[in-house]
Amino acid sequence: MILTVGAVAAGGSCVARADDGRVVFVRHALPGETVRVEVRSSGSRFLRADAVEILTPSPDRVVPPCPFAGPGRCGGCDWQHASPSLQLELKAALVSEQLTRVARFAWDVAVEPVEPLLHWRTRVQWAVSSSGTPGLHRHRSRDLELVSSCAIAAPGVETPLGHDWSGARSVEAFALEEQTVLTVEGRPRVLPAVDAGVVVAGQAVRGPHGVRLSVGGRSFEVSAGRFWQVHPAAASVLSSAVLSGLEPRPGESVVDLYAGVGLFASLLGAAVGPSGSVTAVEGDARACADAARNTADQPWVTIRTSLVTPSLVSSLRPSLVVLDPPRAGAGLEVSSALASLRPRALAYVSCDPATFARDLRVFLDAAWTVASLRAFDLYPQTEHVELVTVLHPPT
Ligand SMILES: C[S@@+](CC[C@H](N)C(=O)[O-])C[C@H]1O[C@@H](n2cnc3c(N)ncnc32)[C@H](O)[C@@H]1O
Repeated sequence: MILTVGAVAAGGSCVARADDGRVVFVRHALPGETVRVEVRSSGSRFLRADAVEILTPSPDRVVPPCPFAGPGRCGGCDWQHASPSLQLELKAALVSEQLTRVARFAWDVAVEPVEPLLHWRTRVQWAVSSSGTPGLHRHRSRDLELVSSCAIAAPGVETPLGHDWSGARSVEAFALEEQTVLTVEGRPRVLPAVDAGVVVAGQAVRGPHGVRLSVGGRSFEVSAGRFWQVHPAAASVLSSAVLSGLEPRPGESVVDLYAGVGLFASLLGAAVGPSGSVTAVEGDARACADAARNTADQPWVTIRTSLVTPSLVSSLRPSLVVLDPPRAGAGLEVSSALASLRPRALAYVSCDPATFARDLRVFLDAAWTVASLRAFDLYPQTEHVELVTVLHPPT
């Protein structure tokens, strides 16, 4: 088919209409382009297709920096073919669309760029082929693209490439500040000689077993397999946005929900000081062990190993709240419990505009107001974006 495509939809594809009226989600196209497409899958209501020939290119089309990007190739990036400025515009449009449609909330969204735009992914899970070669999945496929490099991988993350991982299912590489740790799933027959710490099937077989770094003047240790923000600038960008949005004062009590290894808890702990308090809640016991180490010099910071539940939230009386849930968001029940609290301010950090918009509606229905909403391009070349929203309760 030859189609002229419209705006981008969540997922990064452009939307078009087939002659029979069905919606077509076209990957590898840009808004306004006329393209020849090959259909990859079809259902009764919509089709998925790849633009395989660009008949009228967008002025914002660029040559993808990665030779493995393109129709039928690596599925890791959505927008290598879009200029950096267009990527920011497309992300802003996606966020605005979710806010308007799902949260029924209008906000003039501007996405702030974050350098670097390439070689930023500090964590990549490499899948391993039956012959032991690491690769990346093609889009919506179990098939692997056996790449020899990755244009968005940070230095160190490509360590597993070029080695035989026969017997392993996957190798996750986490690399920051010249330290690399590999977490291997499955049983590699022979462990390749790599310059990295290695954890196999949960057992540390070679050190280091984690990465040490400093953010905002505080030190952090992140063990292999624990959550850490993926872009090398993300921890600093997000914690600055949270601190400037909440303006914590000495003596205040703070709750950090979905706290990971204690990034926000530690920095907010430094801001409220010994006369204040921080309660960090995290469901993963091993992340809590890291968080306890990262805040060991701040006895006013308490780490609670627990799921974030409505009853736990209802038992809290904080002056400030930060929450940074996984992609699924906090959910309606936890959001309702939070909206019943009366902190001075709440910062919601989100990597998914759709689930964030759903949760935001709960706060708006409870008469909370949006004091600020910032969007950061922490995932260049992809459709993903990170939001930091500060909300104030009704007075
Ligand atoms: C997006 S990460 C944020 C971590 C931290 N704020 C940071 O910036 O490094 C989300 C964290 O929530 C934790 N988590 C996921 N579901 C949870 C739940 N229902 N209750 C508590 N923690 C949860 C995960 O283990 C992960 O550490």
